[in-house]
Amino acid sequence: FHVDMDASETDKGTYPFYMLKEIDEQPNVMRRLAQIYLSETGEPVISDKLLNSMKQADRIYIVGAGTSYHAGLVGKRLFENLTQTPTEVHISSEFAYEQPILSKKPFFIFLSQSGETADSREVLVNVNAGGYESLTITNVQNSTLSREATYTLLLHAGPEIAVASTKAYTAQIAIEAILAKALGEADNQIVAQRFDVRHQLGLVATGMQALVDEKSKIEKLAKASFLKTPNAFYIGRGIDWSVSLEAALKLKEISYVQAEGFASGELKHGTIALIEKGTPVIGIITQEKTAGLTRSNLQETMARGAQILTIVSESLAKPGDTLILPDVDPLMSPLLSVVPTQLIAYYTSLNKGLDVDKPRNLAKSVTVE
Ligand code: AGP
Repeated sequence: FHVDMDASETDKGTYPFYMLKEIDEQPNVMRRLAQIYLSETGEPVISDKLLNSMKQADRIYIVGAGTSYHAGLVGKRLFENLTQTPTEVHISSEFAYEQPILSKKPFFIFLSQSGETADSREVLVNVNAGGYESLTITNVQNSTLSREATYTLLLHAGPEIAVASTKAYTAQIAIEAILAKALGEADNQIVAQRFDVRHQLGLVATGMQALVDEKSKIEKLAKASFLKTPNAFYIGRGIDWSVSLEAALKLKEISYVQAEGFASGELKHGTIALIEKGTPVIGIITQEKTAGLTRSNLQETMARGAQILTIVSESLAKPGDTLILPDVDPLMSPLLSVVPTQLIAYYTSLNKGLDVDKPRNLAKSVTVE
């Protein structure tokens, strides 16, 4: 089979590892997606057929594994806010054997960078057997999940070679945002009409660039707080919680730090017992209504000896915050808040002398169930 990619896309260039190159490519991927999926006036360019199928759905089911599942968790918030369609997100290996009760008119979205993940494919086989329509959002044209679903939207992120997924995650979220905007508008939802996705993607691209330009600051932070620790916590509420799961996965898979992403209000119901002197606890704070609450949850861990760090949107920042994110629509905040966490994982792995791109026990695409 034939894969279309030019040499510069698969060449590491001066980068020591693909992961860093792929992190750096994210601002461009955002711009590319805006060019491909938005018209000159900033309106989503999504086929009427796909929109009509989705419009008929009374519930959206998003299915994915690992990082793609995490992108789905953010997608749920985008679809529910902009389209008012109830949206469920499922881990593919769970859905495959414990199928949830389906609504009368379900619509399925498969998220998969590779388009080859066996767990996700198993669900798609069942979805097809049930006669339901589906959409695959993938980076690989003609991949199995793309061929077998009714519709495909491509991530256009360029080949992702590092095992740890970075630009595919942000591309998945950007496409979910564009699709949710299109669907919400097709349904005359005022929130969707007001959501200027082109402007937002522009802000995101500029914001991402500013963050990747802060590499040396993040490397210092990674050295000071993550190099020696056996464990760490990322905490947040709502959409910030969704990002904390992805942040923890990155740290685990390439730097072998036992990390947990946690709903910050839930920590005190047991898990806080794990906090010891010096345990890093990173709060992700991008939502006005929960900012104060996450800050008090951080204080609770500090009182037990934790070393607290914060990743905060500019308009919510306070003196002493660790990393500041440029402001974007709160629904788009994961596209920025995830970037420092990717870099923290990268530099922790790098400075431990690990093979960043090929962590132990892992393959890029998991083709067994
Ligand atoms: C991400 O860093 C992981 N390597 C992994 O969780 C991955 O996202 C998962 O295996 C799903 O892959 P897919 O997107 O190709 O389906």
